[in-house]
Amino acid sequence: MNAVHRIDHVREFIAQVRAQKKTVGLVPTMGALHAGHVSLIQAARQKCGYVVVSIFVNPTQFGPNEDFDRYPRPLENDLELCGKYGADLIFNPMPAQMYPSEQLTWITVEKLTAALCGASRPSHFQGVATVCTKLFNIIQPDYAFFGQKDAQQAAIIKKMIADLNMPLQIEVCPTVREDDGLAISSRNQYLTAEQRDEAPIIYTALRQAAQLIQQGETNPQTITVKMRKVLDRALLIEPEYIEFVDTDTIQPLDVLKGRVLVAIAAKLGSTRLIDNIIVDAKE
Ligand code: PAJ
Repeated sequence: MNAVHRIDHVREFIAQVRAQKKTVGLVPTMGALHAGHVSLIQAARQKCGYVVVSIFVNPTQFGPNEDFDRYPRPLENDLELCGKYGADLIFNPMPAQMYPSEQLTWITVEKLTAALCGASRPSHFQGVATVCTKLFNIIQPDYAFFGQKDAQQAAIIKKMIADLNMPLQIEVCPTVREDDGLAISSRNQYLTAEQRDEAPIIYTALRQAAQLIQQGETNPQTITVKMRKVLDRALLIEPEYIEFVDTDTIQPLDVLKGRVLVAIAAKLGSTRLIDNIIVDAKE
């Protein structure tokens, strides 16, 4: 495994790999790697001859009062995990490498960014789409691997690829959870012991929604009331949104039909967690 910080070095490695006609897979991350990231590396390893993991805490996707400075950066541990699960190349640039001068060109994916996390984090997805475009241009992967955990992000990147004719495919991998159901996240380590105890209730509420939809309930408001009752059991969880949207377009649904994405964002103290579940509504 090789680890590089510079774009020209990445390009040299990729040129060699291309000459060998290997398929290139990219797993974009912000580091603090955990079992969720590992599942993406493993999926890439299975599908591709050469696996690149990018580790970059991207400043442009954090709002002014968000956790950019305190975001964990355990690089040594990350490199060890990447090595263990068979990554070939780690790209770990400094911000000045990715943003050498004032960035004046931004990728905005309209409509898909309006609901869910886009509503409370106005420029977040513009930062995500822009940095992913940069990474795709630098590494030129055949496949890029994203997690269902960030369903809106995955939908936005897929739409961007289609709209801009980018020559790669996006693979979306299932959410990896702790034994008690809590979706694994780099931000879980911010939780106090008491908050951590309550956090799995988010997934309990999502499972209840899935059950009601599978039983034929099509009214999102009816389900929201029941989910709120479940979440009310947790004294430390402050729901930010409970939304029912179309999985591909991320548009809110008044009546549940097709593939429904049920998504929750909640605050536990100052830590914001998101989770979701996809359910096929009865036709
Ligand atoms: P990060 O939060 O590090 O996540 C990197 C990838 O891991 C994302 O595709 C995310 O959906 C996936 N992931 C996180 N937790 C997961 C889990 N429990 N199960 C499965 N996959 C999981 O998402 C980002 O970084 C950034 O926005 C990025 C795309 C790298 C752009 O900066």
